Amino acid sequence: MSKIMEMEVVCLSTLNECTSLQSLQELKVRFLGKTGELTGLLKSIKDLPPEERPTFGAKVNELRNKLESAFAEKQSQLKEQELQRRLRDEKVDVSLVNMQPWGALHPVTLVEKTISDLLIAMGFEVLAGPEIESDWYNFQALNIPADHPARDMQDTFYITDSILLRTQTSPMQARLMEKKQPPIKMICPGKVFRSDSDASHSPVFHQIEGLVVDENITLCDLKGTLEYLASNLFGPDTQVRFRPSYFPFTEPSVEVDLTCSNCGGKGCSLCKGTGWIEVLGAGMVNPVVLESCGIDSKKYTGYAFGLGVERIAMIKYGIPDIRLFYECDLRFLKQFGK
Ligand code: DAH
Repeated sequence: MSKIMEMEVVCLSTLNECTSLQSLQELKVRFLGKTGELTGLLKSIKDLPPEERPTFGAKVNELRNKLESAFAEKQSQLKEQELQRRLRDEKVDVSLVNMQPWGALHPVTLVEKTISDLLIAMGFEVLAGPEIESDWYNFQALNIPADHPARDMQDTFYITDSILLRTQTSPMQARLMEKKQPPIKMICPGKVFRSDSDASHSPVFHQIEGLVVDENITLCDLKGTLEYLASNLFGPDTQVRFRPSYFPFTEPSVEVDLTCSNCGGKGCSLCKGTGWIEVLGAGMVNPVVLESCGIDSKKYTGYAFGLGVERIAMIKYGIPDIRLFYECDLRFLKQFGK
């Protein structure tokens, strides 16, 4: 009996001093394990005189129950302590994340990507072309011969007499049609260059060219495509209006206006009171251009459009001066693309 009492004292006092789950487990094995000390006591019952066995057995079992619940209690205590320690030591200050300098897409990139993604979803493939271009592709292949007045519309940076910085993404129309027979459905986003600089003109800016050539393509296809673009960019109520215009590479040609996204068409300072904002040039591909690229203009028709990405971004975000895009002022740039 004294052995039982001694074991209780030793076991419980050691248990009290346990500071880790591992030492607790070791202690448990030492007393309650298969070859443990208490188990040893149970086994020794057979060596006692028969009349002492029941009381002894009952006492050992009592101790076993006592120890088991003491171990269980200590174990949950230590687990809780461990949890508290980890919560304290591994604490993550989530508010710190906001102090990280987050990047944002440049508004021109953002708008270019938005427009491209909408067109890609409609089946357009994306092409890239050279920024240093020949006079041939930039002008002549697009029905703008050397002395054509339309050249004046585009203040060109010449590198040599026949090499220039492309003034438009339209040369990709000719480059593609020379190589590929219809069906053609492509866009070409990219930089273009003009010797011009004020609040609404920059010497370098971005355009997205679009070209569709196939059988039975009409102006209605152009309008439907632009209406889809406009409603996704500026909201479902946006209307698209065609006005007659002139570009040598399209016939007929149109200027495309959208209802002003600022006033919804009522008239405001952004739309100069007209309710409409001009956003791009477009038209049906001039048969002369189709033929000079080797495409049968009796069989095929096409539409083309060219839009200025900065212009769309300025309208969309209410940006008053195109130069803001290129000044690298983080206070301006951080407002977009979050
Ligand atoms: N390239 C013209 C410009 O920069 C815009 C344009 C007009 C493109 C009509 C087209 C088009 O594809 O059909 O002013």
